Amino acid sequence: MESVFINGCQVEIRAGETVLETARRSGFQIPSLCYHEGLGAYGGCRLCLVEVEEGKNRFLAASCTLPARAGLRILTESQPVQKARAQVIALLLARCGNLPVLHDLAERCGVPQDLYPRLVEDECILCGLCVRACEAVGGRALSFTWRGIKRKVSPPFEKPSEECLGCRACAHVCPTGAIKVEEGPVSFTLLRWKTEHTYVRCRSCGRPFAPLRFTENFGTILEGGAGVSSGTGAGTAAVAGALAGELCPACRRSLRARELSRTAAKR
Ligand code: SF4
Ligand code: FES
Repeated sequence: MESVFINGCQVEIRAGETVLETARRSGFQIPSLCYHEGLGAYGGCRLCLVEVEEGKNRFLAASCTLPARAGLRILTESQPVQKARAQVIALLLARCGNLPVLHDLAERCGVPQDLYPRLVEDECILCGLCVRACEAVGGRALSFTWRGIKRKVSPPFEKPSEECLGCRACAHVCPTGAIKVEEGPVSFTLLRWKTEHTYVRCRSCGRPFAPLRFTENFGTILEGGAGVSSGTGAGTAAVAGALAGELCPACRRSLRARELSRTAAKR
């Protein structure tokens, strides 16, 4: 079995793993903000820097994008790592000085909160997780726009996007809570982009349960492989699938249960 050395400890590596994954699996703590295990590596925040020794080379690298290669010697808390990490945190604080997640990191790493003047006041650290989450669920509602200090994530032309189905994947993965959702009785709004989604009501119990635009696209989403699982009888799944846009999960489940007991009674 091939292995790497992390802080002097020999650790086996698994095929396809990055250094961050190997380290975390083995109990080593490395901070990160733009990494999400369900989405591909991006290497944007640079918080996960580690010091690497490979042959005669010694360098700093983002552990979330560095493949774990046999023989690597990795240091997660060396002086160069701590210095670089502190710099990253200080720069993030200059952009997002009010974020609790950054305050926690600064405190843990001994970084003064006011090393650099506050340039902008935002909750978005530009980690890109929301953009990648949107792409991962088949959407193109978000992208990076502008450059330099004006750089931001937004829908095209900074207007509510028709591409947004209201799945909330972006809000779910955002590490800073920058994507806030305001709930209303008949709709919810993604405040950051002023995108409002009306709920569809369950045909059976009348409760609001899913964004209308999401249910309107349910067929396409199912074709893409997501949604109602099969395995309890193709006919039952087909019925539930067809009604998924009209029935809430609870009513769908009870419909499936009724279908199953009818099928069982016929046997
Ligand atoms: S809104 Fe959140 S997830 Fe999107 S780039 Fe900003 S911090 Fe990252
Ligand atoms: S977690 Fe590795 S660069 Fe952000």
